[in-house]
Amino acid sequence: MRILVTGGTGYIGSHTTVSLMQQGYDVTIVDNLSNSDKNVLDGIEQIVGKRPDFCQVDCLNEQALNQVFDTYKDIEAVIHFAASKAVGESVEKPLLYYRNNILSLINLLEAMHRHSVKHIVFSSSCTVYGQPDKDHLPVDETAPIQKALSPYGNTKQINEEIICDTAHSDASLNAIILRYFNPIGAHQSALIGELPNGVPNNLLPFVTQTAAGLRDKLRVFGNDYNTPDGSCIRDYIYVVDLAKAHVCAVERMLQGKTKEQVEVFNLGTGRGLSVLEILNTFMRVTGVTIPYEIAPRREGDIEKVWANPKKANEVLGWKADTPVEEVLLSAWNWEKHIRNLNN
Ligand code: UFG
Repeated sequence: MRILVTGGTGYIGSHTTVSLMQQGYDVTIVDNLSNSDKNVLDGIEQIVGKRPDFCQVDCLNEQALNQVFDTYKDIEAVIHFAASKAVGESVEKPLLYYRNNILSLINLLEAMHRHSVKHIVFSSSCTVYGQPDKDHLPVDETAPIQKALSPYGNTKQINEEIICDTAHSDASLNAIILRYFNPIGAHQSALIGELPNGVPNNLLPFVTQTAAGLRDKLRVFGNDYNTPDGSCIRDYIYVVDLAKAHVCAVERMLQGKTKEQVEVFNLGTGRGLSVLEILNTFMRVTGVTIPYEIAPRREGDIEKVWANPKKANEVLGWKADTPVEEVLLSAWNWEKHIRNLNN
């Protein structure tokens, strides 16, 4: 069975490709390499012992995308990761984000229809919930969708709607929407991991780069939030656990177990951790001191959000249970690997 993974050389895509291949699936990756590196394929091959098929194709290129489906006639399902994902950049360049993230999905759904591929897993985000009110924390899938705080977030909401509308018009289409909380860490082998472009926006890559001496200090954005230590709270989920959820989702669809044409799952641990807790745990488990200062709040940040993952636990039979200490160490091992640091 072959799975098409768009964005498969990216952070979550590469870990998911590994999980799929380890479960015996053949994988074809489609990626335009706009925010990833072809060397990732070597890392995947070293871990799995087999190289995934790779097509350097932009999902905006309809013709090239259709060609992939023509070439690989055994594609049974698609996992769609390929998208632009920097929140700040999306505010500066909204049209780029709308064009890339929305047209890519439209092209993909059309190509799937043309080639009678019926199953899609879509990479969405907890950003669709905005700041849930206290009655909806931890947040489950029934929590209201709130107006997006950025064009990036809006593309996730619009894409979810496009999938629902398309499924409504085509009874044979089956979709699973996965709403991720905050993915962190890297594969245990330290052969694949997150490769941020330029100065990282996300917390963990900034922490590991500071630990490696690439950045002077970490800025903790705000210590006056309404949380126990004043810093923001998120649900940090190990990227390898997250990858496994995609295999469960694909299997559920291929085995005809879905109960609804479009199913939605929150993927998180169920545990919220503050920025300062992450920072202190990182320093404790790695033994590396991270210089940091308290900085003003970052515009658009949500105060606290963490998942109720009960539905995914029960229905997908999946759980994110890797201890955060291990996850933080995996992030550090990866950073050391890419910087050629020995200890
Ligand atoms: N943070 C810092 N200093 C930094 C970077 C981050 O204090 O240098 C803090 C942030 O203020 C926030 C927390 O660390 O409190 C996590 O920030 P990230 O940028 O890592 O993650 P976000 O929760 O802001 O963003 C994530 C995804 C987005 C998604 C968003 C909303 O990266 O794609 O969740 O769900 F849109």
